[in-house]
Amino acid sequence: MGVEVVIEGLTKSFGKQTIWRDVTLTLPPGEVSVMLGPSGTGKSVFLKSMIGLLKPDRGKCVINGVDVVTCSERKLYDVRKLFGVLFQDGALFGSMNLYDNVAFPLREHTKKSETEIRRIVLEKLEMTGLSGAEKKLPGEISGGMRKRAGLSRALVLDPKIILVDEPDSGLDPVRTTYISQLFLDVNAQIDATFLIVTHNINLARTVPDNLGMLFRKELVMFGPREVLLTSDEPVVKQFLNGRMDGPIGMSEEKDSATMAAEKAMFEAGHHAGGVEDVTGIPEQMQPTPGVPERGGARRRKDRVMRILHTLPPAAQEGIIESLSPEERRHYGVQTHHGLTSQRGQLPTEDVAALPGSGWREPRQATDTDRLPPPYPQQGRS
Ligand SMILES: Nc1ncnc2c1ncn2[C@@H]1O[C@H](COP(=O)(O)OP(=O)(O)OP(=O)(O)O)[C@@H](O)[C@H]1O
Ligand SMILES: [Mg+2]
Repeated sequence: MGVEVVIEGLTKSFGKQTIWRDVTLTLPPGEVSVMLGPSGTGKSVFLKSMIGLLKPDRGKCVINGVDVVTCSERKLYDVRKLFGVLFQDGALFGSMNLYDNVAFPLREHTKKSETEIRRIVLEKLEMTGLSGAEKKLPGEISGGMRKRAGLSRALVLDPKIILVDEPDSGLDPVRTTYISQLFLDVNAQIDATFLIVTHNINLARTVPDNLGMLFRKELVMFGPREVLLTSDEPVVKQFLNGRMDGPIGMSEEKDSATMAAEKAMFEAGHHAGGVEDVTGIPEQMQPTPGVPERGGARRRKDRVMRILHTLPPAAQEGIIESLSPEERRHYGVQTHHGLTSQRGQLPTEDVAALPGSGWREPRQATDTDRLPPPYPQQGRS
């Protein structure tokens, strides 16, 4: 099973420039999380800080009891072996064929025989749909294939945590969806904890269990996908709809005068770009039929039901709506006919009572249940 990553009060600056401060979040083991944020908000810096390539000024990033911010080089070396990292361009060695690229970490970090290496490399290439392409050089294949080769290489050391930086860059929307499907299939097969950094709204809406967003040098929010997808926070809404209308500007945060001038322009009918206002919670993508069920998704359901009462009402509603009748019974969510008038959306038969005083714990809490403190304060200083 994947490993939990607990980040507390993490702060990073370069000289006088603070990139982000007091970032606090937990990546639950085996769940898929996505971090959004406008360009330059420090998403890549965040990933690099998690693997100890950059040193944060303060705060903790604890993995298996080891704080990567303060631990020794030796410990860091061990912790790094838990990670598989997929860099933006695949970061393949241009002069090596795909087979040797994927075999590289095994030859570098293990004492495995070439026979054993061959078995692993071919298995990972098959997992990512690259069987038969072993002899190709990175320069001879498409961007999508390079990403998949990068993913094969990230998988060879059996990572417990997989970090992915902008998997969609350079890919068309269809290929982006295929690689998203691959992430979910890999997650189902090896139960690794995923953190994907992206600008891609479709991916953010349909792939992860959890969503977070960095903006104004802070973690604006981090939590179950339903929370961001139903959020009224202007910056979150603007980003998820890809519009000009909102606090995010071309180069940096807009000042209030620019905001006001632009607002007048949009009110006068200028197209703010983006699609129509997309609201609500689209269905989450599932592993391909035949691939095992995602353990992370199952645990997430239990986890989210335990913290349900701490989430904003719209997110609670969305989560309850997504439960099957059996799950409602299992979690002790009672249908309640009096709620329709308050909420005004759900058909009477389908209305569930939000757990209040009558709420009972579905099972014993474990130590992974620490997250999060009551919404929406998590991550704010
Ligand atoms: N090694 C470094 N030294 C100094 N400044 C850096 C360094 N690495 C990143 N930065 C600065 O940190 C800020 C955040 O960079 P980062 O690459 O993390 O942004 P990002 O959110 O990943 O953006 P994008 O979405 O465009 O990839 C930028 O202002 C960048 O100039
Ligand atoms: Mg980046």
